[in-house]
Amino acid sequence: MAGRFYITTPIYYINAEPHLGHAYTTIVADAIARSRRLMGEDVFFLTGTDEHGQKVERAARAAGTETLAFADQTSQKFRDLFSRLNISNDDFIRTTEPRHIQAAQAIWRRVRDRGFLYKASYEGWYCTVDELFVPETQLVDGKCPTCGNAVERLSEESYFFKLSAFQDQLLSLYQGTPEFITPEIRRNEIVSFVSGGLRDLSVSRTSFRWGIPVPDDPKHVMYVWFDALTNYLTAAGFPDDPSRLQRYWPADIHLMGKEIVRQHAVYWPAFLMAAGLELPRRVIGHGWWLMNDAKMSKSLGNVVRPDDYVERFGVDAFRYYVLREMTLGQDASFSDETFLTRYNAELANDLGNVASRVATMIERYCSGRIPAPVRDSQTQPDLELVAAIEQTVDQVTQDANRLDFSMALRGVWELIARLNKYIVVREPWVLAKSPDERPVLDTTLYHAANALSVVASLIQPVMPETARKLCVIFASATRPWDDALKTGGLTPGLPIGKIEQLFPRIDLTVEELRSNRSTLVSEQQNPAPPAATPTPAPPAVPVASAAPVDNRITIDDFLKVDLRVAKVLAAEKVPNSKKLMKLSIDVGTEQRTLVAGIAEAYEAEQLVGKTVGVVFNLKPAKLMGIESNGMILAASPEGGKPVLVAFDGEIAPGSRIR
Ligand code: MSP
Repeated sequence: MAGRFYITTPIYYINAEPHLGHAYTTIVADAIARSRRLMGEDVFFLTGTDEHGQKVERAARAAGTETLAFADQTSQKFRDLFSRLNISNDDFIRTTEPRHIQAAQAIWRRVRDRGFLYKASYEGWYCTVDELFVPETQLVDGKCPTCGNAVERLSEESYFFKLSAFQDQLLSLYQGTPEFITPEIRRNEIVSFVSGGLRDLSVSRTSFRWGIPVPDDPKHVMYVWFDALTNYLTAAGFPDDPSRLQRYWPADIHLMGKEIVRQHAVYWPAFLMAAGLELPRRVIGHGWWLMNDAKMSKSLGNVVRPDDYVERFGVDAFRYYVLREMTLGQDASFSDETFLTRYNAELANDLGNVASRVATMIERYCSGRIPAPVRDSQTQPDLELVAAIEQTVDQVTQDANRLDFSMALRGVWELIARLNKYIVVREPWVLAKSPDERPVLDTTLYHAANALSVVASLIQPVMPETARKLCVIFASATRPWDDALKTGGLTPGLPIGKIEQLFPRIDLTVEELRSNRSTLVSEQQNPAPPAATPTPAPPAVPVASAAPVDNRITIDDFLKVDLRVAKVLAAEKVPNSKKLMKLSIDVGTEQRTLVAGIAEAYEAEQLVGKTVGVVFNLKPAKLMGIESNGMILAASPEGGKPVLVAFDGEIAPGSRIR
């Protein structure tokens, strides 16, 4: 029987509009869930909304709406966004649902009956404006850190959970199961927090009503984290469906942002130990998205709304960007510049172009049917491509098992680059001119289409829609990864599907993109925790430093520039210009016109037949009324004339330079 796999996201507060952060966690969980399904597992993927607490009660009042109606509306926004993001969750839980209220109360009873809850007076600094207790350590000059008003010493009756009783058990959990908390930096933080001693936790409130009533003491409602964390059990069938619970509990992965690892890796296991229930297997705390290196915030007007990008670039482009750009566990910066560059270079140019070129060639040279490879015609380039496919499948499987989607995508894009090179080396458009080369042509286009169908299989968890489209074009079915090779590839003779541009180039400037961005109505805020449990500070806004600017770039930055070999076919001076030369060049797959500022250094005749380097993916620009598509590489010495970059040997036009 296939293994089962239970993965959760946090349940999101509904006092804020969904934004990039919520979308990211849910997309990562979705990619994990989809990859596990491809591995044949019985997956249960849960997300949902956290709807109780004073903030929601207040937000509803401010909106002039009844609280549950407010919750219905705002929870729906998360559901709608997740459906636009193509999230494949199996359940969506709301903490206001009867099934959850029943489960939270059942766990409360178990913990109480086993002696881990007691009633006492909860004393602390209270802000009457914000109506909440402020931990002493968070007071600013003795005043409320949120609104700046004076605080009063107040006491409230509260139930306490005996968290202090679990210190040793928790520490031995972290020691015995090191992978319980990842990444390591989060694990170390938690170990040191717990080693420092644990105070009992206040888990009920009497100062507001919008919560789950404490069983047998309805004056109290549960503190939101006790209520919220138990959602993971509710959805797994607790308490009324023991066979479901047995199948899906414990959860395999609780995924979340780093700021709530403490609740999941300390409180939650302690609640479960107290209730005598099994513990989840892994808690993973990912990093934070910053916007252009600063924290996202409404006041800075830089909160990223996923819809702005999904509407313009398509859902798969958004999913690709966030998973490629952020390494799970580390912070990452969202920027329009990198979004546009990745979109145009990696999606439109690398993947989109090669898919439409291969399909167009099959249509043109093979009557629109997948050609049959001819075994005897296979030579080095074919064998190399097949080996690269095998190696990529292995690598991507390993990366996905380590949840390193960024690395997995990089591997797939390396395969795409190899495929591009293979096509340039084989020059199917030249093969097509001579009937003797038919076996090589068929073999080449078969291997190219097959490579793209493997790409489809590999990108499925991240880009399900693109994978589906690729399969339609190349008449194949997406396959489980480890099957991608075993099934023997494509079926020759099948007609290819309608050719569509997967990612049309988008020639927008960053300013144009920004001017269309809408702003969020409200900003996410975490409800303040009780005095005993200060929330870790959000990531600091990097402070501008006076240090010299480090302008080194990463290899990824460099690879965004598509440099190619080209051959000059024709050259003529641009009339009325001293410097400009109009060139017609062969870039392997096509002929292009470009304008270069080299007329003072070279005569037209000297240039024809020369092999040069060009920037292939430069946006077109008009120079003296001529559209220039690309830029020629030349060294420009101070005060001297430009000197063209040359190659140390024969090299085919279209070859990539890196
Ligand atoms: N309701 C609690 C969670 C209860 S789970 C039992 C909560 N909700 S929240 O709406 O504030 O969502 C927080 C989560 O949203 C983070 O843990 C993370 O998953 C995601 N993100 C919100 N902002 C984020 C970034 N800027 N970057 C990345 N993810 C962040 O906390």
